[in-house]
Amino acid sequence: MADGVFEPRRIIVTGGCGFIGSNFTRWVVESTDCDVVVLDKLTYAGNPENIAGLPDDRVRLVVGDICDADLLDELMPEADAVVHFAAESHNDNSIAGPEPFLRTNVEGTYRLLEACRRHGKRLHHVSTDEVYGDLALDDPARFTEETPYRPSSPYSSTKAASDMLVRAWHRTYRVPATISNCSNNYGPCQHVEKFIPRQVTNLIDGVRPKLYGDGMNVRDWIHAEDHSSAVWAILTRGRVGETYLIGADGERSNIDVLREVLRAFGRDEGDFDWVRDRPGHDRRYAIDSSKLRAELGWRPRHTDFAEGLAEVIEWYRDNEAWWRPAKGATEAKYRAQGQ
Ligand code: NAD
Ligand code: TYD
Repeated sequence: MADGVFEPRRIIVTGGCGFIGSNFTRWVVESTDCDVVVLDKLTYAGNPENIAGLPDDRVRLVVGDICDADLLDELMPEADAVVHFAAESHNDNSIAGPEPFLRTNVEGTYRLLEACRRHGKRLHHVSTDEVYGDLALDDPARFTEETPYRPSSPYSSTKAASDMLVRAWHRTYRVPATISNCSNNYGPCQHVEKFIPRQVTNLIDGVRPKLYGDGMNVRDWIHAEDHSSAVWAILTRGRVGETYLIGADGERSNIDVLREVLRAFGRDEGDFDWVRDRPGHDRRYAIDSSKLRAELGWRPRHTDFAEGLAEVIEWYRDNEAWWRPAKGATEAKYRAQGQ
C-alpha cells in the first residue's frame, strides 16, 4: 500500500448487476488492476447483461443475497474490501410496498457490516442525497456533509438507517468504512421505471411522457460514470470514517429535463401528460461536493448534460432488447397507480 492510499487487489461489489453497480464494475476493470466479485441477487432490477463482455479472469458473478451471512463468510476471505451498491432503489416502489426496502437496505447493510467486522475488511457504503430530505426551490442552500438527516420516503428512510448503521459500526467496532451520498444518476442501463429512461422509452413507443405534480421538482443530475470515479477515489484515497457528498452541479427541474428529451425526439414541448403526484414528493435536491473536490481532487467529466442525455437516448434506441422485457409490467404498475 502506498502512503495513505488503499490499493485493493480484489473487491466485492454488491448490486454489481444493477444500473450504477455495473457501471462501477466496468469502470474498475477498465481503469484499474483491481478484480471484482459481483454479488447480486438478480432482482427485477439486476441484469447480468450489464456486465457482459467483461473479462472472466477479472470479474466473477456470484448470484446471492447480501442478507445471507454464510455466503458472505465464504466470499470475504478472497476480497480486500466491499463496495456496497445493492439496494431496493426506487421511491415509487417503496411507497407501494416498503417491506423489501427494510430487508435489503437495512438488514442487508447490517449483514455486510457484521461480515466486514468478522473478517476485518473495509466497506464503502453507497448512499443517496435523499437521506437529507428536500430543499425549497428558492433556498440558496445545498446539502453538505453537515446537513441533518430528514428522509421523506420509505426508500430514503431505509437508506438513512443504513448510513446510521455504518457510522455506528465504524465508531463502536472500528469497522473501516466510508460513506458517499450521491445525487440523481443518469446513464445507460438504468431501469425503465426511473424518470429519464421511462420517458425516453415511452417516446420510442409513441406513448406520451408522464410528469408528476407541477413538474417543478428539481433533481441534481450526475452521469453514472462520474459517480463511479468518485466512489473509487473515496475507496482508495478517502479518510476512513468519513462521509463524502458526490454531485456535479447539475440542478434541473423535471419539466426542463422532459422538454430536452421531447426536443431530442423532435416533439412539441407540451407533448406529455400530467399525472398524479408522488405522495410526499421531495421538492428539490442539491449537492455541495466541495469536500470531495478539495480533499481528493475529484472532478466530473460529463459536464454537458444535453450531450450526455443525447447519448443516453441513443443507447435506449440501440438497445431495445435490453429494456423491452421490463417495459410492459413497469407501465402496468404505473397505470394502476394513476401515474
Ligand atoms: P438498481 O435498482 O439499478 O440496482 C440494484 C441492484 O442490487 C440490482 O442489481 C439488484 O439485483 C441488486 N440487489 C437488490 N437486492 C439485493 C440483495 N438483497 N442482495 C444482493 N443484491 C441485491 O439501483 P441503482 O440505481 O444502481 O442504485 C445503486 C445504489 O446507488 C443504491 O444503493 C442506491 O441507493 C444508490 N444511489 C442511487 C442513485 C440513483 O440515481 N439511481 C443515486 C444515489 C445513490
Ligand atoms: P426518479 O427517477 O424516480 O428518481 P428520484 O425519486 O430518486 O428522484 O424520479 C426523478 C424525478 O422525476 C422525481 O421528481 C419524480 C419525477 N418523475 C416524473 O415526473 N414522472 C415519472 O414518470 C417518474 C418515474 C418520475
